[in-house]
Amino acid sequence: MSDPVKTMKQEVGRAAAARVKSDSIVGLGSGSTAAYAIEYIGDRLAKGEIKNVVGVPTSFQSEVLAKQFNIPLVTLDAIDHIDVAIDGADEVDPDKNLIKGGGAAHTREKVVDSLAKEFIVVVDEGKLVDKLGSTFLLPVEVIPMAVAPVMRSLAKLGGKPELRMGVKKAGPVVTDQGNLVIDVKFDHIKNPAEMEKEINNLPGVLENGIFVGVADIIMVGKIVDGKPEI
Ligand code: 5RP
Repeated sequence: MSDPVKTMKQEVGRAAAARVKSDSIVGLGSGSTAAYAIEYIGDRLAKGEIKNVVGVPTSFQSEVLAKQFNIPLVTLDAIDHIDVAIDGADEVDPDKNLIKGGGAAHTREKVVDSLAKEFIVVVDEGKLVDKLGSTFLLPVEVIPMAVAPVMRSLAKLGGKPELRMGVKKAGPVVTDQGNLVIDVKFDHIKNPAEMEKEINNLPGVLENGIFVGVADIIMVGKIVDGKPEI
């Protein structure tokens, strides 16, 4: 039997990829939903439906996928704009504020997604929340030597911080930049814009997963009458 969440992710990834136009520079997001968008952009290029599209990856994962699907890549040094970025999210509130970083890629994602003229967020309906922090822990990327003081500061801000561990808890998750991730439980983030700045001000923090004022379009996959719908 097909997995309905997987089907929603596929459909929403495909719908976002359908919006990519020829002669454009595309930010390629990270995570399982963005991965489908990358696959479908590759498909459209291979079929000749779109031409002259280049991608800017947001992670090592999206770089590898883009190469697998023959999407030419550029770095930010070589371009002066990004037309559209397609990326997933872990939570989306009614004001289009996001929590990202479930894949520990939020630092590069924030750089690329913020530069895009249009940032399309691709999620399944389970990601929609009234208040950020309701269901997901907030990821904070920290340089390794600052983990202990940053954990203490996050606790003072009212959070419950824990260092993100990898598979089988054999060691911590290491980001593409060689840093560590602290996941913080907050009981609802009241003011996302303030919290984003406050956490980024802690010495040793590189970036946190709150995205305020970055998303333009939220594409939501849902199951209606047993069928996937956008
Ligand atoms: C990675 C991210 C992802 O976009 C986010 O975790 C959503 O992933 P998925 O589509 O697999 O649920 O922010 O850092």
